[in-house]
Amino acid sequence: MNQLCLPDAPTPQIIVLDTGGQYCHLITRKIRELGVYSEIRPSETPAAELRGVKGIVISGGPASVYEDGSPQVDPWIFELGCGVLGLCYGHQLMAWHLGGEVSKGEKGEYGLAHFAPSGAAAVFEGAAGRQQIWMSHRDTVTRVPAGFELLGSTETCAIAAMGDAGRRLYGLQFHPEVVHTRNGRRILSNFLFGVCGCEQDWSPREQAARIEDEIRRTVGERNVFFFVSGGVDSTVAFTLCLRALGAERVRALYVDTGLMREGETEFVQQVFNSLGRGVFRVEHAQARFLTALDGVREPERKRHIIGEMFVEVQEQILASGHFLEGNWILGQGTIYPDTIESGGTSKADLIKTHHNRVSGIQKLMAENRILEPLHLLYKDEVREVGRELALPEELLSRHPFPGPGLAIRCLCEDEERGVERLEDGWLAPLHSVGVQGDSRSYRPVLILEESPAAEGVHERATALINRLAGINRVAALAGSHAPVSEMRTSRAYLCETRLARLRRADSAVRALCLKSGFEKSVWQFPVIIVPLGTAERPDSIVLRPIDSVDGMTAQSVVMPAEVLAEMTRTLLAQEGICAVLYDLTHKPPGTIEWE
Ligand code: XMP
Repeated sequence: MNQLCLPDAPTPQIIVLDTGGQYCHLITRKIRELGVYSEIRPSETPAAELRGVKGIVISGGPASVYEDGSPQVDPWIFELGCGVLGLCYGHQLMAWHLGGEVSKGEKGEYGLAHFAPSGAAAVFEGAAGRQQIWMSHRDTVTRVPAGFELLGSTETCAIAAMGDAGRRLYGLQFHPEVVHTRNGRRILSNFLFGVCGCEQDWSPREQAARIEDEIRRTVGERNVFFFVSGGVDSTVAFTLCLRALGAERVRALYVDTGLMREGETEFVQQVFNSLGRGVFRVEHAQARFLTALDGVREPERKRHIIGEMFVEVQEQILASGHFLEGNWILGQGTIYPDTIESGGTSKADLIKTHHNRVSGIQKLMAENRILEPLHLLYKDEVREVGRELALPEELLSRHPFPGPGLAIRCLCEDEERGVERLEDGWLAPLHSVGVQGDSRSYRPVLILEESPAAEGVHERATALINRLAGINRVAALAGSHAPVSEMRTSRAYLCETRLARLRRADSAVRALCLKSGFEKSVWQFPVIIVPLGTAERPDSIVLRPIDSVDGMTAQSVVMPAEVLAEMTRTLLAQEGICAVLYDLTHKPPGTIEWE
């Protein structure tokens, strides 16, 4: 990637080869949690470039080894003499390259299964006996390559694990990186320390001093300014630069886009003023953003417009000459996973463009005028660095908030249309983004006319989403002023009125979450406004409380009935709001945000 990178980043002991799945970052993060520094590379990385690593993990991915153009690995990686662990598709690829046999599966196997290791392989040390694992595959290995032993099976998968201890090659059909695999951490640890001989060399807290050193060397005589959002990443990145370069050479600019939550600007102002005098400035650009977004429905267009507007505002500020003079570069709080869903690794399908990767920013990258001090860290690692820097815990433990702000929580539609009766509920012609089979979907929502507190409603929602091909979300009706049958979408875009409604709703939800303590039960809680309702009350509010570890996958969370009841009453009393919906969808197939 073309960026001002940090020359002294630690040398990875383990390389994870990306074959296109969503699991790649999860594997890398789990390895780092075990204290071993690891990075991701494209699956086709030549073996010569991997010489010297202690081990290689080939990730799982959605392809089949028989498809044209499916991700490959350089077969010489199996001759490097280091440990190699193939997971899922990686396991199949290993079998296929080394002369085993892979058969095409018709139906596949997804979810929990039980696995029993046979024999005493190094990777299963301390993990003997029948155990729960997580499977997600179609094809299977049907014959192990010469020199390999069968290391375990499940009821439906005869070769769930295989290995050649002499050559230190192992393949697992299941996913040890997923929490549902009971001994997953143990198995990965066995591979790292038992098979590859890794040493513990990674602790996020120790990174602060190293990164500051690198910032000084990379930036040289130049100055750095940041567009800060009040989020953890940009604040930690900024603070590192402040410490490395001193208050004279760093500036934080906060663009008030008008897409912020209630009270946000004041909060950010207070945090930065306490970091250093005179380093912070607010640029008021509300009207410009709203004008540019008027009449725009498509989520990706919104993101691009916002990204471009950020760059435009920034360039004008610099051109006006009274902000920072001379040799400046732009600092960003981009973290490691921000690159994958933008197609940053070669195999990831584009699901949502991250605003740190829009074209204006890419131009600066090409000119070597971007500094991303956190680009190798995961979110939890950034929080740890923040603790090391003694940043306030209130800031470090905030729920993540997307860069484009409320814009991607304010659904827009071009058409006025009624809902459609289906056997199980109502099909609402609202479009939201989802991620299905590693690709992006943009589909309508199924509304169930039952309470989100009803017995078994989460399970019914999951079953429906698997059965109905045309949708990517299911929401339940927490309360409304009109029956769903009478609701219609309206032609609606981003405007002051709808943003004010959303801000009011979001603020009420946040206050009730804090009051009830529900805040602590969720990882993030987007509140979305959708143009569905009646003539008098044209919008509805969607509640989307989710639990997650890193935003890559997420579960819809059940809210205590009394908290939900009070929230619904409060929201229905607000101007313009027709109904309160509760999103029951997990990610996948829904994304966390609706856009
Ligand atoms: P999704 O909706 O893709 O969200 O499941 C995963 C996480 O990413 C955040 N998100 C964004 N963050 N710019 C950001 O800075 C964006 O355009 C953006 N889109 C989604 C989202 O809030 C969640 O935490």
